[in-house]
Amino acid sequence: MKSIKIGVCGVGNVGGAVLESLVNSPDILERNGGVKIDVISVGARKGKSAVPFDLNVSKNLMDVAHNDEIDVFVELIGGCQLAKELVETAMMNGKNIVTANKALIATHGDDLFNMAKQYGVQIGFEASVAGGTPVIKALREGLVANKVLWFAGILNGTTNFILSKMSEDKSSFEAALLEAQNLGLAESDPTMDIDGTDAAQKASILSALAFNTPYDFKAVSYGGIESITSDDIEYAEQLGYKIKHIAYGSIDENEANVSAYPTFVPNDQLLSQVGKQMNALEINCEGLGSTVYYGPGAGPKPTASAVIADLVDIANGGWHENGSLGEKNTLSSKSYQKFSRYFNINVKNEAGAIAKVSSLFAEEKISIEALIQNESKANNKLFVPVVIISGPLSDREVTQMTNKLESSEETSSTVKQYRIHNAL
Ligand SMILES: NC(=O)c1ccc[n+]([C@@H]2O[C@H](COP(=O)([O-])OP(=O)(O)OC[C@H]3O[C@@H](n4cnc5c(N)ncnc54)[C@H](OP(=O)(O)O)[C@@H]3O)[C@@H](O)[C@H]2O)c1
Repeated sequence: MKSIKIGVCGVGNVGGAVLESLVNSPDILERNGGVKIDVISVGARKGKSAVPFDLNVSKNLMDVAHNDEIDVFVELIGGCQLAKELVETAMMNGKNIVTANKALIATHGDDLFNMAKQYGVQIGFEASVAGGTPVIKALREGLVANKVLWFAGILNGTTNFILSKMSEDKSSFEAALLEAQNLGLAESDPTMDIDGTDAAQKASILSALAFNTPYDFKAVSYGGIESITSDDIEYAEQLGYKIKHIAYGSIDENEANVSAYPTFVPNDQLLSQVGKQMNALEINCEGLGSTVYYGPGAGPKPTASAVIADLVDIANGGWHENGSLGEKNTLSSKSYQKFSRYFNINVKNEAGAIAKVSSLFAEEKISIEALIQNESKANNKLFVPVVIISGPLSDREVTQMTNKLESSEETSSTVKQYRIHNAL
């Protein structure tokens, strides 16, 4: 049986679950993967008291990166600075790397993969996107014979839980967030989940694999779910949609566009059915069409499952080099992709106002596919909410239209708009 020796830094949620599985259930791995994994060294800054297993523990994490005995260095501390220093040190020491750290890969992936090439080592990062659902493996291996045209994914479990609760239980945004925190699904500071940063980081990693673009998280445009209200959820239901936070990537010639925004998904599409804290990714390839991957996107055990799968792959020789031939494609935050749009506009409660608003769309040659005008719930009925589903618009066109609506005398100043997912 093959065997590898590893050093693990970070014994938090994920590190703890990895060690528990390797120490307590090695038989499953040996039977299924044909690999024996020995934990030679653990890095925990609080020392032995933080590691509930009989293992060698070092308070100085650099000791693990410098350990000559290990074959693989497993980074599970999170963050960018120390994690990068540790991973670089381990690679210079000839060690393969496994990490669950999306921030590290999405920010420094290019440098790290160049360095891995230079030192002849491999980097496994399955756990960095969609936790226990093997989407990196699908892109690196299962779909390797295909040209990816686009992908669309629900990549953040916390936001999906909140949106699902708002839709199924009619919870408010605040109540759904609190429930996610009480269940341990959201961080005490959930900012990077709610504002879309986490999904955007993951989407940039998918783009690097799907479209051979740089690992450049800053070139992803994104927005969060904080502006979604119960009214938006109700309108979506009335119109036959669910609101999901969707990371979308597509490529045109040599330029990929990747973005992550709250999006209306038609009820007849699989992504609309992904509830609770689950993740899902649809990958559409030329000739093949769509394949869909669904499963838990976070949590100690699902994430540990992905970390251990990478260890087994490394023991078995690792992966081919991604995008090793030719120039990389560019990743641009300017999206030319056109989406139908949901507009929510407060229109003056007086005769002819809606007709004037409709004419603003006509002036821009934008079709109106549906229009709903419900009675205002507010006591002050100076304005009534009007929802318009428009024909397809690019981000640039939608900004122009939103500005035009907001500066119109017939509307109050803030106009909301969200994309409608149109899987082609
Ligand atoms: N949790 C998930 O569901 C999940 C899913 C996918 C990916 N990930 C990724 O997995 C990684 C670990 O996440 P986690 O949830 O396990 O985090 P966590 O529970 O906060 O654990 C982090 C561990 O790293 C240690 N650590 C952090 N900063 C350190 C530093 N500067 N020096 C020394 N030790 C340090 C912590 O030590 P102390 O205990 O001393 O603070 C703790 O043991 C992150 O990159 C995360 O993005 C997590």
